Amino acid sequence: MTTSEGHGTFRLGAEAANGPHGAITEQKESVMEYEAFLDLVRRRRSIRSFKADPVPGEYVEQIIEAARFAPSGANSQPWEFVVVKDKEIKEKVVGLITDQAVHSRKAELARDEDLRFPGMQGPVHEPGFKNAPVFILLCGDPRTKEAYPLLTTLTRGDSHFVSGLASAFLYMTLAATALGLGSQWVSATGSPFVKPLLKQLLAIPHKLDIYDMLALGYAASQPKERFVRERNEMVHYDRYDQAKYRSDDEIRSFIVRLRRG
Ligand SMILES: Cc1cc2nc3c(=O)[nH]c(=O)nc-3n(C[C@H](O)[C@H](O)[C@H](O)COP(=O)(O)O)c2cc1C
Repeated sequence: MTTSEGHGTFRLGAEAANGPHGAITEQKESVMEYEAFLDLVRRRRSIRSFKADPVPGEYVEQIIEAARFAPSGANSQPWEFVVVKDKEIKEKVVGLITDQAVHSRKAELARDEDLRFPGMQGPVHEPGFKNAPVFILLCGDPRTKEAYPLLTTLTRGDSHFVSGLASAFLYMTLAATALGLGSQWVSATGSPFVKPLLKQLLAIPHKLDIYDMLALGYAASQPKERFVRERNEMVHYDRYDQAKYRSDDEIRSFIVRLRRG
């Protein structure tokens, strides 16, 4: 019996072999959980164009519910979620991000041509996520860094803080996928050109930090297949395998390869 069979069928077979609570049943069920999990992880993609169809409010709650259980340094839970659905406010957010894209684009043009980020070479357009019916802005409260052990707070406070927020963000993207929604990770909200204006627009207290924004909705189109590195190239057993160490030229070629999509 393969792991791609339906859960019910699988359970029947395992129970017959090993009783309802046997170790084999549990083991096979956890394999099934892994398969389901991996399927979810593989299906999560960055969606960059959205239908206007509204997202049920309950889905937004469920997405945030998942994020609530994300790991964070010392369980500091630094997150605050600002859910934006109001059309006018959303348009203002899009406006701020479009304005900053002008600076990003100028900076990009200073690079070697083959390393330039695709989509940043031509004129600046409004981002595709402007049609997404919901934006969730993830903010963090840096005062929660005090929850870490003192030396961590003093020396690695910032990276712990960001890692916690990234965990919550990732959980949101997975929950959105599980609910049949598309999402885009919008990091321009953290740009120094955007942050202060966004704080003012959304009445975010000065002491909070803006992390990134999730644009959420039903996908209007699917992205093309992504290039994912092979597992064997990146795994090292017991010791770092020097044969797998990538030279500077190889890294550069890798980035150029990424640019081709
Ligand atoms: C820290 C971080 C910042 C990102 N910022 C953006 C962004 O501003 N705009 C965007 O379209 N995608 C953004 N992404 C999404 C990545 O481009 C995307 O995950 C990557 O290209 C792989 O594609 P996939 O998400 O479809 O697997 C970001 C992802 C991460 C983790």
